[in-house]
Amino acid sequence: MADKKLWGGRFKEGTSASVEAYTESVSFDWRLYREDIAGSQAHARMLARQGVLTSEEAESLCRGLDQVRDEIESGAFQWKAELEDVHMNIEARLTGIVGPVGGKLHTGRSRNDQVGVDFRLHVARRLGEWSELLAGLVAVLANRAAENQETLLPGCTHLQPAQPVSLAQHLLAYACMFRRDHQRVADCLKRVRVSPLGAAALSGTTYPLDPASAAAELGFDAAFENSMDAVSDRDYVVESLCAGSLIMAHLSRFCEELILWANPQFGYIRLPDAYSTGSSIMPQKKNPDICELMRGKTGRVYGALVGILTLIKGLPMTYNRDMQEDKEPFFDADATVRASLAIMADMLAEIVFVPEAMERALEAGFLNATELADYLVGRGMPFRQAHHASGACVALAESLGCGLADLSLEQMCKAGADVENDVYAILSYRAAVERRVSPGGTGPESVRRQLEALRLWISERKEA
Ligand code: ARG
Repeated sequence: MADKKLWGGRFKEGTSASVEAYTESVSFDWRLYREDIAGSQAHARMLARQGVLTSEEAESLCRGLDQVRDEIESGAFQWKAELEDVHMNIEARLTGIVGPVGGKLHTGRSRNDQVGVDFRLHVARRLGEWSELLAGLVAVLANRAAENQETLLPGCTHLQPAQPVSLAQHLLAYACMFRRDHQRVADCLKRVRVSPLGAAALSGTTYPLDPASAAAELGFDAAFENSMDAVSDRDYVVESLCAGSLIMAHLSRFCEELILWANPQFGYIRLPDAYSTGSSIMPQKKNPDICELMRGKTGRVYGALVGILTLIKGLPMTYNRDMQEDKEPFFDADATVRASLAIMADMLAEIVFVPEAMERALEAGFLNATELADYLVGRGMPFRQAHHASGACVALAESLGCGLADLSLEQMCKAGADVENDVYAILSYRAAVERRVSPGGTGPESVRRQLEALRLWISERKEA
């Protein structure tokens, strides 16, 4: 019974069924099979280069591993829970294919560095996909912004009407967030792409390994510096999930706005039918379920982050089995991040903006009150006094049930605002946006510059 296990030499009895079920990881870490096979092939070739294996032995191992991969991908492979994890399932089958030489693969290696190689390669591959998806979303945002440079809507603070902005400026704000997410992922990748292969169990080995050459072959940027650190830390998982959490936070905020905008009381957007659902009882309903789910799924990704942070906080050096619990949260978070980014880009490309509804909304909330104050400052009034006078005009207009531009010159003057006929031109919402000439503001020139910079970033990224 016990010698069924690859580690069973010193055991007389087998593990109980419940323990096997409790400890196995192959039901989820089978997902690492590609990386596990690549890591083993790089290890075998490195062993041959270092004279630990003959090149025939290494070749036979690599060919056998190719066959294992084919079997897995064709569905012929039989995963066995009693073989615990992806590593031992693959090694056992390899030995079945190539015979006793299969037992040489694990020379100078431990599952501790092996699982690190697999997971780091896997996380790096997924982060690469996040980057692609983020760049795709930024490109859609740039396109939608370019189409909507002339579209105005109320910009809010505290979710209350504040100042008019262009829809382009609003969308470009999200483009900035997702571009930062992209940069964060790239930065995180620098630390993910460090190979632990050659650290062995915790202290290195007695074989003359060459970790750097194996690392290079696997596409890592570098090999580990300290064997104990190499098999111990999962900070790269934390960092990746932190980047993923911020991606979801940004998506979730956007979803929140889209949900509001789809509400007929705003009416700023029409959601494509393909991205909405109906109600089983209320025939008129068109619900923004996709946005709601994305907002909700954000919690899963935060949960994964907090889970891994908690997982590692009390671990003594070096490898501890607790670390096996790092995989499922990452797999789940990764699937959520990828699906969310993809669906947001597709949905955003098809959302119909309703400029008339946005224009109508401009009329409520005195979004030109700052313009009136700035106008008075232009005529020499100290800003605090101008703020007060403009506020008095707002109060008057509110009591009359009209807008600022509907007040007569006399009414404004009486409220303390020293105005002349030219005031009406600056009270226009479009003028308010056009006069915003400060760098990074909502003015047309600034928006054009932002768009240009973004497009440059997109094209540079495509070349890279
Ligand atoms: N399934 C294990 C994990 O994910 C692989 C490493 C096991 N190492 C060990 N010494 N038991 O962490």
